[in-house]
Amino acid sequence: MLAMNKIKILGTTAIVIAASVIITSCKDKRSTGWEYAPNMYEHIAYDPDQKNPNFKDGKTAQLPPAGTIPVGFVKFDYPGTKDGYEKASTEVKSTLPQTRQNFEQGKVLFEHFCSPCHGVSGQGDGLVVQHGFPPPPSYSKGQSSRGGAMKDLTDGKIYHTITYGVNAMGSYASQLDPQERWKVIMYVHHLQTL
Ligand code: HEC
Repeated sequence: MLAMNKIKILGTTAIVIAASVIITSCKDKRSTGWEYAPNMYEHIAYDPDQKNPNFKDGKTAQLPPAGTIPVGFVKFDYPGTKDGYEKASTEVKSTLPQTRQNFEQGKVLFEHFCSPCHGVSGQGDGLVVQHGFPPPPSYSKGQSSRGGAMKDLTDGKIYHTITYGVNAMGSYASQLDPQERWKVIMYVHHLQTL
């Protein structure tokens, strides 16, 4: 009885192995087999790197037309030069509503990003300055290295400085979006009066 069962099991195993060898050996090694929903692979739309007869240069990936800007992008057409700084000073004005909430948010952003050097009250005595970093001039009592008193710095000059940096101060353009820059500026104007 046991011997019969053994033969049956061996027989079935042999048949299964033989069947799978036959089935798999029929397959073309380079074929990916049956495709489920083939139009996922061979779709009608052009791939970005595909040739495309619909365009003059024959490419699918077209450059955006000149002057195109991403949705929500705020233009600041002033170069990171002294001229750009002076031009921004006369032409760029804050349009941020001067609300308590914007002021409070500007204070938080200032304390995070600017106070390590400028100090919490803007006197140029931040923590890194106490460890030897060159001190920035006081917002209320100092002189700008680009001329004039720090307390007279305009919206445009401060915006230009945050965007490009100046000398030992780096740009904060990647940390603060335009809206946040205006909030910080609102707070800096307060520190200029201290
Ligand atoms: C790593 C230190 C450091 C940080 C952080 C820093 N600053 Fe400065 N900042 C300086 C130094 C140093 C100067 C003086 C540079 C010079 O004129 O040579 C300066 C100058 C300035 C000026 C004067 C520019 C002018 O026209 O004379 C403004 C305005 C200013 N910073 C704003 C900010 C604001 C706003 C932040 C935060 C978003 C900030 N800074 C963060 C170091 C820093």
